[in-house]
Order: sequence, then C-alpha cells, then structure tokens
Amino acid sequence: MTSDPGLHPLDPLTAAEVAEAARRAKAAPGLSDRVRVVSVELREPDKADYLAWQEGGPSPAREAFCVLLDPARRRGVEAVVPLGGGGAPTATDLPEGVQPAIHIEEFVAVVDAVRADARYLEALRRRGVDPADVHVEPWSSGTFEPGPGRQARAISWVRRDDDGDNPYSRPLHGLTAVVDLDEMRVLRVDDVSPGTPVPSGAGGDYRDGGGRPYRDDVRRIEITQPDGPSFTLTGRHLAWQRWDMRVGFHPREGLVLHDIGYTDGGERRRICHRASIAELVIPYGDPGPTTHFKNVFDIGEYGLGPLTNSLALGCDCLGEIAYLDGVTNSWDGEPHTIPNAICIHEEDANLLWKHTDDHSGRVDRARSRRLVVSSIVTVGNYEYGFFWYFHQDASIEFEGKLTGILHTAGTVADEPSPHSLPLGEGIVTSHHQHFFCARLDLDVDGRANVACDVEAAADPWGPGNPDGSAFRPVRTTYERESQARRLVSPGTARRFRVENRARRNRIGDPVAYELVPGDNVLPMQQPDSQVRERARFLDHHVWVTPYRRDERYPAGEYPNQAPGGDGLPRWTAADRNLVDEDVVLWYVFGAHHFPRLEDWPVMPVARCGFELRPVGFFDRNPALDVPPPTAGHACER
Ligand code: NI
Repeated sequence: MTSDPGLHPLDPLTAAEVAEAARRAKAAPGLSDRVRVVSVELREPDKADYLAWQEGGPSPAREAFCVLLDPARRRGVEAVVPLGGGGAPTATDLPEGVQPAIHIEEFVAVVDAVRADARYLEALRRRGVDPADVHVEPWSSGTFEPGPGRQARAISWVRRDDDGDNPYSRPLHGLTAVVDLDEMRVLRVDDVSPGTPVPSGAGGDYRDGGGRPYRDDVRRIEITQPDGPSFTLTGRHLAWQRWDMRVGFHPREGLVLHDIGYTDGGERRRICHRASIAELVIPYGDPGPTTHFKNVFDIGEYGLGPLTNSLALGCDCLGEIAYLDGVTNSWDGEPHTIPNAICIHEEDANLLWKHTDDHSGRVDRARSRRLVVSSIVTVGNYEYGFFWYFHQDASIEFEGKLTGILHTAGTVADEPSPHSLPLGEGIVTSHHQHFFCARLDLDVDGRANVACDVEAAADPWGPGNPDGSAFRPVRTTYERESQARRLVSPGTARRFRVENRARRNRIGDPVAYELVPGDNVLPMQQPDSQVRERARFLDHHVWVTPYRRDERYPAGEYPNQAPGGDGLPRWTAADRNLVDEDVVLWYVFGAHHFPRLEDWPVMPVARCGFELRPVGFFDRNPALDVPPPTAGHACER
C-alpha cells in the first residue's frame, strides 16, 4: 500500500491506513488468532524530523502505532507498522500485567456476559427485575481486584418504558459483578443488599420538557454569514485571520491541535506545537458498595476517539460550520468513520476593545469574534465538550463543558450520607471530581523556551513603601523539573509563563505566553489512596518537562489497572534541565462536583478550563487592526 502523497505528516490515519495497519499488525509473528485491536493511530513524527521537513528536509516516515490485545496469552502488544511501502511491522509484547485500554466493543461483550450469569440473574430475581430491562455498565476496576488478568466491574440500573428512558433514575443498590475480560466471564457477583426495592424512577425523565410543556416564548435566532465564514479549511489545515493550525483526531485524546501559529506583521510566529487534553480522571468520593471503586481514567482507560459524537448542524453547532470526520477502529481492526466528529465555526464574542474619548465624544471599538474548534464525547452517563477558542487578541482558551446525567447509586440508609446528594426515594448521586490534564507543547517563537510563574507580592512597609500600598510581580523560574511542580494560587494571581529568552520585545523582556488558570481544586483523596497512587500527576496543578516524543500521557501509556508511578512522576524524577529547553507545560485542573438538585435529571453545562494569552509576545495590542463594526440592527452610531 502507498500513502496518499497529499497527506500531511500530522494528518490522522485514513480509513484505508487504519485497515491496512490493523491487518498487518494482527499478522505479526507470535500472536494468537484471538488477537484484538484496541487502537490504531498515526505514530506522530518526532518533532525535530517534522520541523526539518518544514524547512525542506525529507518527509518523515509515515507509521501507524497499534495497540493489540492477545487474550489467549493474556498479553497486550504494541506494534509499529510502516506505511507507504515501508518495512515489516514490529510487534512487542507489553510486560505481563500491563493492560491496554478497554475497547468500546469489550463493554458490549461485558454486558452480555453479566446478563447471562446465573448468580446475577438470581440477584435480579430477588429484586423482581426482568433481565431484559437491566442497563449494565462496565467500569474500569483499578487495582481493587487481585490479578492476574484483565477486569472490569459492572453496575446496574433498570430501564422502563422504552429504550430512551433514563435508567440512572433506577439504580440497583449493592449489586456489582466482577468480570474477567480475557475470558469474558463473570468472576464474582457481589450483592450486599438483596432485598432493596428498585426506585420508582419518578422525576428522572428529562425528555420532551420533563413532564411540563415547553416554554412558548423562544423566538428564532439565526446566524448568517452571507459572505461565508472567515476561515479556510484545506485538508486539515485551518486558517483564520492571523491564526493557523492543523486539526487532528486521536483514538485516545480525541480532538488534537497541532502547529499553532499566529502571523504578525507578515511573520508567522510559532506558539504551540501540540495541544490536547491528555488525561481525564474522575474520582468519586462515596465509600458505598457501587461507588467506592469509581476512579475512571476516561482518556487512558477508555479513549475518547470512539466515544466522539457525530455532530448535527443547528443542534450542536450553529452557523456556518465546517466539519471534520474522525476515524477509529473496531475490535476486529476495521476502520470506523465518525462523520462530523469535529466542528469548526466562528462566533460573535461580544466586545474586543472600546474607548470613548470624553473630550471629542469619539467612540472607537472593535467587536470580538472567536474561532471555535470543538468536539463532544459521551462516556456512559456523561458528556464532555472539548472547546478550543482562538481570539483576535492572540489568546487561546480551552473550555471543558460537562453535561449529561449524574451517575447514581441506590441507598437504604435512614441517615443522609455526607458523601452524596439524595435525589429521591432510594437514589443518591455521589460527590466527585473531574480532573483534566492538558498537555501543551508550547513553542514560543521556537523550541528553546523556559517556564516560570509570576505572581503578586505586597511590599513590606519601609521608605520605599510609605503608604503600605506597593506591590510587585515576583517570578519563580523553573530551572529544573523539581522546581516546576506547582499549585495554582488565586490569591496571588499566580500565572504560568513560557518564554523565549532569545527573542525580546520592545522593552527588552523575553516574548512569552502565559497560562491563566480558571477555577481549580485540590484532589480530595488521601495521598496514599489507590487513585492518588495511580494518578500521581494530581499532586500538582502544573508540571513542566522537556519534550520527549514518547512522554505523552501524565499517568503513562497504560493506566488501566496500573498500580501507578508511571508518567510525570517517573519522568520528572530525573530532575532534568528546563532552561532554554523545548518545554512541555502540563496543566491539571479539576471541576469539583458537589451535585445540585438542578443537575437532575440532566445537567446544565458546567465549565472548566484555562486561557493562554500573550504577555509581551507583541509590542502592543495585536487587535488594533480589527476593523470597526458596521452599524446595523439597533446600533445607532
Ligand atoms: Ni460531575
């Protein structure tokens, strides 16, 4: 097979490439005929090779990276498959006990296995539940079960009426099943509360107005761009005003952005080589029998690619939209295309800048507009939106949107639990946290950068501060990795900066971008708890590492059932130099979720994220060249 010469080195694999790579990887010597394909992705070129290619050097070899599972041998396998007529695939067994992520089709098989188990059926019979009505949900099991083998735990609810009913309104209290995924059989059924009645589900329906008529005062709003949108999408290259970038799609991280640059006075300036959300961990804080083990790594244990929604015009996105598809793979290695997996559009974003001159009365202003690149995934009960915004003042914003249905559990307790919110008779929803980890491979005007933080400090009283009101910025430079493990500090406005000391702005400071944290929180689990050991990256909000091609995920390549220690804690133990290095900024941010009654039966979007903005990167406001708005609608001036 030959690669399409029109492909860019960072373009995700095409459907044909996925099929070819999977087929050749499965045929590697030593694998059993039961081998399954967990994921197939582009093996992204090393950055040096990519940059050399941009300078006119040779095209980097196009390769697929496949993760396989050989259940007959209980082994995970990594395979690198050269594409475009390259050599033979190399396949390497993962160490014993290292578990690849769980494939979406494994979940379907778990449901069938659980519903066919005699012990589980007996538990249903004791509750008077028809097996046909049960909604079974497999969850990653962490390290709660002794090995060896690949496992998941199943929790259950009851659906009624029809397939669209909200099953989370009827949890089956105290019933879990532990499943061996290699053999796809139930190892154990735990039923700690066999006599508990099934909740009625009252108030759980969110559809069609939730039992009330729709409000009748919503008039049409239409977004029209009679001249078309201001962006151009050529293949996966996206250009909009001064911005340009490449839009990727990854089986694990979903939406990925590459090679983000901003053209300033005719010069294209690099800002970021790669930006993604590299992990998402949701620890629950309820010690109940069906909740205590819920510490899912949605990205590392499941992978967002196959869970990505196919978006609908006018529903998910409004206006002049361009879409990109995403390609994932089936358990057999067949390509699966998700149409409209990524949405690209422009939005009016209110005010960009304004001033009224009080002498002349002259008003100058610019309206803000932003470019939105987004995708939405459904992980069981929950939806996550991944929204990257590009602004005309050269700032970038990431917004995670959290919506969907609260995860529920049954209860028989007479006393309210401090660990959950009651939603109705026999049903609670547990407190939890959602921790995102952004991996930001910033290249601020090139690769040699240094990171620091800058925060405010009040001057002490003294001759230089006679009024006691003086304050100043204080910077802490991260010369080594051990100095770059930091927490947010909203009280001192601590911001995290990546700067290029070889390039100076007009006052002599290094050009820089800074990360402005949004709302954040600390992990609420004990430091030596299972989830904290497994997600050690939660210990700090900020980490900085020197770029390495294979340092991709904060909890390592294979967090599923892993005891922990891999990823950021392991790499940074070397305490590498960060001065004038190609630094990668890792930002961990938590959406803290004490559920509200208003989050039921479906949750209004909650937001979390951060902003990346230029600080001394330009010599002045870069958005003076945004033309004034033309008067229209109700604007008089
Ligand atoms: Ni939540």
